[in-house]
Amino acid sequence: MMTILVGTLAEKGLAQMLPYQDQGLSVEERVNDLLARMTLEERIDMLGGYEAFCIRGNERLGIPVIKMSDGPLGVRNSGKATAFPAGIAFAATWHTDLMREYGEAVGREARSKGVHIMLSPGVNIHRVPMCGRNFEYFGEDPYLASRMAVAYILGVQSQGVAATVKHFAANNQEYARYTVSSDVNERTLREIYLPTFRAAVEEAQVGAVMTAYNLLNGVYCSENAHLLRTILKKEWGFDGFVMSDWGATDDAVAATNAGLDLEMPSGERMNRRNLLPAIKQGRVSLATIDDKIRRMLRIMFRFGWFDRPQTIESTPPHHPDSRAVALQAAREATVLLKNDRNLLPIDRNNISSIAVLGPNAHPAVTGGGGSSRVDPFRSVSFLDGVINLAGNSIRVYYSPGVVTDFTEIFRGSEFWTLDEKKGLVRGLKGEYFANKVLSGVPILTRIDRSIFFRWGEGSPANEAPADSFSVRWTGSLKVKAEGEYEFIVRGDDGYRLYVNDQLLIDNSRARPPRTRRGVLRLASDTLNDIKLEYVERRGNAEVAFGWSRRRSARESEAVGLAAKADVALVCVGFNPETEGEDFDRPFELPDEQVELLREVANVNKNTIVVITAGGNVAMSGWIENVAGLLQVWYPGQEGGTALAEILFGEVNPSGKLPVSFEERWEDNACYNSYLDHDGDKRVAYSEGILLGYRHFDARGIEPMFPFGFGLSYTTFEYGNLSLSADRLRIGQKLKVSFDITNTGIIEGADTPQLYVHDIESSEPRPLKELKGFAKVRLKPGETRKIEFEIDDRALSYFSLSRNAWFAEPGEFEIGIGSSSPDIRLRQRFTLLP
Ligand code: BGC
Repeated sequence: MMTILVGTLAEKGLAQMLPYQDQGLSVEERVNDLLARMTLEERIDMLGGYEAFCIRGNERLGIPVIKMSDGPLGVRNSGKATAFPAGIAFAATWHTDLMREYGEAVGREARSKGVHIMLSPGVNIHRVPMCGRNFEYFGEDPYLASRMAVAYILGVQSQGVAATVKHFAANNQEYARYTVSSDVNERTLREIYLPTFRAAVEEAQVGAVMTAYNLLNGVYCSENAHLLRTILKKEWGFDGFVMSDWGATDDAVAATNAGLDLEMPSGERMNRRNLLPAIKQGRVSLATIDDKIRRMLRIMFRFGWFDRPQTIESTPPHHPDSRAVALQAAREATVLLKNDRNLLPIDRNNISSIAVLGPNAHPAVTGGGGSSRVDPFRSVSFLDGVINLAGNSIRVYYSPGVVTDFTEIFRGSEFWTLDEKKGLVRGLKGEYFANKVLSGVPILTRIDRSIFFRWGEGSPANEAPADSFSVRWTGSLKVKAEGEYEFIVRGDDGYRLYVNDQLLIDNSRARPPRTRRGVLRLASDTLNDIKLEYVERRGNAEVAFGWSRRRSARESEAVGLAAKADVALVCVGFNPETEGEDFDRPFELPDEQVELLREVANVNKNTIVVITAGGNVAMSGWIENVAGLLQVWYPGQEGGTALAEILFGEVNPSGKLPVSFEERWEDNACYNSYLDHDGDKRVAYSEGILLGYRHFDARGIEPMFPFGFGLSYTTFEYGNLSLSADRLRIGQKLKVSFDITNTGIIEGADTPQLYVHDIESSEPRPLKELKGFAKVRLKPGETRKIEFEIDDRALSYFSLSRNAWFAEPGEFEIGIGSSSPDIRLRQRFTLLP
């Protein structure tokens, strides 16, 4: 076999080839050879990350520095990149081939930037709609999520880039993510929260796994030997490496022994200082250290990182194929939830005006907040998309409807302070403290005329520190007319606002920059006391505060425009500031969006709502009055084009919900087991395996929109279900086939779903579970035969007494449905002992 030497080794000019440099040897031979050449210190140094997003290289031995980049919505690090739709949007396409193309596109962009490891996909199960990172993940069902994860990983890894499946495991809320313990029983863990990770390992040979911040059953995930050693490495045979989430390593020895291989972003804990003595004292074995190095080197050799440069100069990050994938995914992800009177698609010849309204109409909201946020080369907002496709004969009006830019209010708000000598003076008294708890003697006291500060990494004044300080502003504001007044605070990190001694806004525990609003009725001709407390912990520092008379949505220009337009498109939902990493969001739409929806629907019967969100929102109270509803998730940079194509009928929507949409939050399986308050930091997953549709089925509750549901502009019929046998033995396969016909008059795509129902079982089981699906595109009148193959794995549950998956002999039923409750074909068969 010919051996070539490129990149780092050749550059180093190592005259004589060493065995680990020989591409003719097996990966394991090369790993063993290189490992043997490393000193213990060099090995330990490699266990801690380097420059925040790298694995440390080794010049002496020619080990390259390994570069990582965040996903999962694109190649986030190292400059601009394609902003793809969010993970939940991809899950809503139910299109695994498209998902694979997405993975390939990401892999290509990663290569253009010299990235070796993508920190994606994120596969945590959607448990509650509030979880700030739902948008990154693949929904509530482990089977759907597994298929999506496997396709993505295979795509990424086909480009010579390793994927990282995260966050292992049961990281299902952002609130208290560093301290909360997800308490999940073993069966629930195996059936709901782990299958996607398992598929990533067993079916896609994922290169890396990232542990979650939270604790699992009282033990930090990065120190959880049951999770890392027993399940992941031993049972599933994972031979890649496990990295911690950023800063998620607590105890060096515990993590090292439990199976964590790489501490990110640096060796704060897993370093020479902690590990050398531990090795000496026999608390950590050399074999344990070597296994970690082996795992990292194995991936490096397997992916060819020793043998070729990772950067492909000729591939631009804004590859046209990436854009095509982003657009196609945004089209297929859009779920049409409501379409009264077949208002959609809009016939361009029938209307002369359309009002595009709402805070999310423009500029484009491509993704949610946090480490997945991509800075795109370009983006098309919903407004842009409608303008581009509406044609010359349709007038397009635009108004955001609700205020989202508060700069004017922050600049112009008047405050007053009583000065002993001068009487009332403009501004608030600011007391600055060199601690985070507003205590002791202030290091600085001054009058601040307005509160609109962006200190960044700096400090508010020479005498104040850049981090770990706090400020208390006190004074008052004058109100002439009685009415409702709105108070707006924006801050990074925490803050609290009191008006007339009443706590109006409490954002004290938040860390990322957040804007919060509160409304209060104030009497005429009054002086009202203000107290604003602000705490800067570390990093970026900013705080802004303003107030104004509250304008109702009715007074907004948007309602006027809606009244005169033929169609009103209202684009509402969340954005990176209101939905993202490190915090959970409310179930309700933010700010006055609901009021805006109601007012617009009042004046225009052709109101169509477009929701940008990682999951469901409260819809009762407005959904009844709107004609159309589309869930677009976070649609990425091409979202505006995709939406407009659907609105005007150039694309037939085919997205289906990857998560059940509850009518009320109280209807959710986790209503009684979601932690949204301080205090107890344990969440008992008391709903067990009955999550999402499994819960709605078991409790007989009707959701607002069920799992698997989505409308089309055409209709589909299913028929001729046939099973290859009516009896099955363990190890045999069952073929399930049926026909699907497009019975409408336009082309369209549908996703029929296969559910398995265990009719007799000695253990409680969900009424049905998804075990197959296929996205099918059909011309009008066309019929196609669909075939699925299932085996006993699709019939199994995790048996605690056996500590293994078990398919219990007995009767089963196959259901073919268009959504989870809409099962159209059924047939039974028996699993023989
Ligand atoms: C997130 C990870 C991310 C990492 C690096 C963490 O805070 O939880 O998902 O990959 O930061 O940015």
